[in-house]
Amino acid sequence: MTELKNDRLLRALARQPVDVTPVWMMRQAGRYLPEYRATRERAGDFMGLCGNPDLACEVTLQPLERYPLDGAILFSDILTIPDAMGLGLYFEPGEGPKFRKPVRTEADINALDVVDPDADLPYVLDAVKTIRRELGGRVPLIGFSGSPWTLATYMIEGGSSRDFRIAKQMMYDRPELMHQLLDTLAQSVIGYLNGQIRAGAQVIQIFDTWGGALSHAAYEEFSLRYLQQIVSGLIREHEGRQVPVILFTKGGGQWLERMADTGADALGLDWTTDIGQARRRVGDRVALQGNMDPTILYARPDRIRAEVADILASYGTGPGHVFNLGHGITPEVDPEHAGAFIRAVHELSAQYHESSKHREG
Ligand code: CP3
Repeated sequence: MTELKNDRLLRALARQPVDVTPVWMMRQAGRYLPEYRATRERAGDFMGLCGNPDLACEVTLQPLERYPLDGAILFSDILTIPDAMGLGLYFEPGEGPKFRKPVRTEADINALDVVDPDADLPYVLDAVKTIRRELGGRVPLIGFSGSPWTLATYMIEGGSSRDFRIAKQMMYDRPELMHQLLDTLAQSVIGYLNGQIRAGAQVIQIFDTWGGALSHAAYEEFSLRYLQQIVSGLIREHEGRQVPVILFTKGGGQWLERMADTGADALGLDWTTDIGQARRRVGDRVALQGNMDPTILYARPDRIRAEVADILASYGTGPGHVFNLGHGITPEVDPEHAGAFIRAVHELSAQYHESSKHREG
């Protein structure tokens, strides 16, 4: 396997010294980039893009051609697992994801099998292999999955939802049925992520996008428990290197200590948590990733730079910080502003890593 030319992301996730704070952006390959829109056009639609390893590789690399990012993230979607379970994923332009066959009844849930990634999702594993080859060791490749709870919300609601009415009704009225679904999903996620790791993913992120919609007690029981099951089931070392796991619960700022208890290597923060306070709470147990409000990218580049400076100052000196947005970059952002953001992170963070420079000679 090729040597990594830029291992800042892996070092920061392991809380080892770095020269500058590494940065990547959730949804860094996406509609704000004209070159992404052009490739998606060639693929026909979004699922055509996910299903074609060469085109998925092309869009994964596009943001790296433009910006000095410290990580690449597999181009795919969290909803590939429910699609592989036979729910029939499709995207209605402008409406987000939808399922032809949502999961609503006991019979629906009994009919679901644990996904076998080699048989059911070969196009994702092929994309991982292709991207690793084409990256040539430039930066690490991040693989990902949705959390069981987040996947369950889409599967039950049949798409996006404002209040998760149907999913929460099942959770409160038929908790044993919800647990059965979440366990099937957790087993699927473990196999899927281990498949991505064997295919070459060097970092794993779990997106618990809707964990923050749960009550304190329900978060523990219906989301965190399955994040724990996944962290315990993942391959943690591959190709002679640690494979760090990042847990991102959007709206999960109040549960960071409990998330750290899972044994994850890093926690993703949205922008509602102060990263310096978060660091004091979790100590040196985990690295932290985040957490600029993605809508700041609509502001002027000098305002973006000031926000980056504030977040770096809040985190403070020393390793263990991966800069990111608090959620995905949105389609209307000016690519120049994304560039200003990434440049600011590298330029302004060196001063927080001075001692590491001396130590490395
Ligand atoms: O970050 C990356 O660059 C990797 C690719 C990636 C996508 N989706 C591509 C995508 C990742 C990591 C995801 C994860 C994902 N997908 C999540 C969790 C992260 C989050 O945002 O909270 C969720 C909830 C989904 C489900 C999903 N997929 C939704 C709600 C949508 C519609 C969003 C919209 O703005 O229309 C998608 C589609 C999707 N996934 C797009 C991209 C680039 C846009 C599709 C297009 O090209 O039209």
